Amino acid sequence: MDEVGSREIKICCATFYESDLVRIFLGDILHPGGLALTEHVGNVIGLNLDDRVLDVACGRGASAVHLAETFGCHVTGLDYGAENVAAAIALAADRGVAHLTAFRQGDAEGLPFDDGAFDALISECSFCTFPDKFTAAEEMARVLRQGGRLGLTDMTVSGPLPEDLESLLGWVACIAGAATPEEYVATLRTAGFTHFTLEDQGHALLELVDEVRRKLLGVELAVGLGKLDLADLDLSEGKRLARRAVELIQNGVVGYTLIAAKCGS
Ligand SMILES: C[S@@+](CC[C@H](N)C(=O)[O-])C[C@H]1O[C@@H](n2cnc3c(N)ncnc32)[C@H](O)[C@@H]1O
Repeated sequence: MDEVGSREIKICCATFYESDLVRIFLGDILHPGGLALTEHVGNVIGLNLDDRVLDVACGRGASAVHLAETFGCHVTGLDYGAENVAAAIALAADRGVAHLTAFRQGDAEGLPFDDGAFDALISECSFCTFPDKFTAAEEMARVLRQGGRLGLTDMTVSGPLPEDLESLLGWVACIAGAATPEEYVATLRTAGFTHFTLEDQGHALLELVDEVRRKLLGVELAVGLGKLDLADLDLSEGKRLARRAVELIQNGVVGYTLIAAKCGS
């Protein structure tokens, strides 16, 4: 993929996740499993008070704030979207953890931090959207100190996707850029990570899609009653995609996986 195409995908993805539409269907927590899974990741990688943690592609900051509140660690969040970063800063102030958090705009494929600046790094439902996953993995390894811990949760696939999902909408929805768990591990291993543990979190994805389907029905009702105007948004396409997603998750074609690893040997 050329640089312009790659940049377009990042802008499109960030803009999509800043949109009102996403807010209606997902709220401020933009990954399956919600904050319970975020906290589980924190436990799996053994976060503690002294850790300097980086959340790559932090969205609106819900996970970073939750980790700071739960583990007392210092969390820096980075996201491509300026509005997401502003929302994260406001959330941290509102929740009284501004002193334990910092947020900045930036690109996962060129992290604006020094080598070895962090003890731990998380990235939720985002690695799959990065066009150059190897560069992103190398950057993650660079900013972690030797022995630092990585906790990723992400969309995974078991093989090639059906053609109807290989579209830009698929990219944005975190599906078309997803790889198999083995491919993610291979990319991370080449970038310098070791000691992998994997957990299947497919049930969290199914719950999220079920929740979106329930909300789609609610939105359809509100439109039908004239209480909501969605301009030219095609709700039936959303319902079709959600039905397809359930099918693909149940058939094991699409999943959600937690990958924990260590930086260096
Ligand atoms: C599915 S959302 C997940 C957000 C957050 N991790 C969460 O779980 O709530 C994907 C996020 O990736 C961000 N993103 C996409 N490409 C990025 C990049 N190259 N660098 C940094 N952030 C990126 C988007 O702006 C969006 O906030």
